[in-house]
Amino acid sequence: MNSIYRIVVALLCVGLMACGDSSAPAGEAKAKVNFRQLPEDPQLAALYQRSCIACHGTGAPAIPQTGDVAAWQPRAAKGMDALLDNVINGVGGMPPLGMCMDCEPEQFEALIEFMAAGTLSK
Ligand code: HEC
Repeated sequence: MNSIYRIVVALLCVGLMACGDSSAPAGEAKAKVNFRQLPEDPQLAALYQRSCIACHGTGAPAIPQTGDVAAWQPRAAKGMDALLDNVINGVGGMPPLGMCMDCEPEQFEALIEFMAAGTLSK
C-alpha cells in the first residue's frame, strides 16, 4: 500500500514539473510574457532589433508579442508556409517584409520561430 502511494506521488510530481516547464497556468501566462527577449544568435538579434522589435517587442496591443504563446497559437496553426507568406507580403497592420528589406527567407523563418515561442510544430 505504501509503495503504491509513493508511485502516485512520484507521478504527480512528474506531471506538475512537465506543466511548469512549458507554460504557466493560463491566467498568469499573459502577465508573464517576456516580450523583451532577444534571439540568441547575434546576427538574428541584430535583424530583429532593427525591424520586428518595434512592433513585436514593445507590448503593443493587437500585435502578437514575442513569446506570447496564447497570441501565437492560433497563428502558428496556419503553418510556417502561410506565416512566411504573410511576413513577405504583409498582412493587416503588418508591413511587407516586416520592414526588414534585406532579410533572407531562412532568416524570416528563424525570426518567426523565435517570436512564436515554440507554438509552431516542426
Ligand atoms: C510596423 C509594425 C510591425 C513590424 C515592424 C513587424 N510586424 Fe509582424 N505584425 C504586425 C502586426 C500588426 C501583425 C498582426 C497582423 C494581423 O494579423 O492583422 C503582425 C503579425 C505578424 C506575424 C503573424 C502573421 C500571421 O499570418 O498571423 C508574423 C509571423 C510576423 N508579424 C512576423 C514579423 C517579423 C519576422 C518581423 C520582423 C522582420 C515583423 N513581424 C515586423 C506588425 C509588425
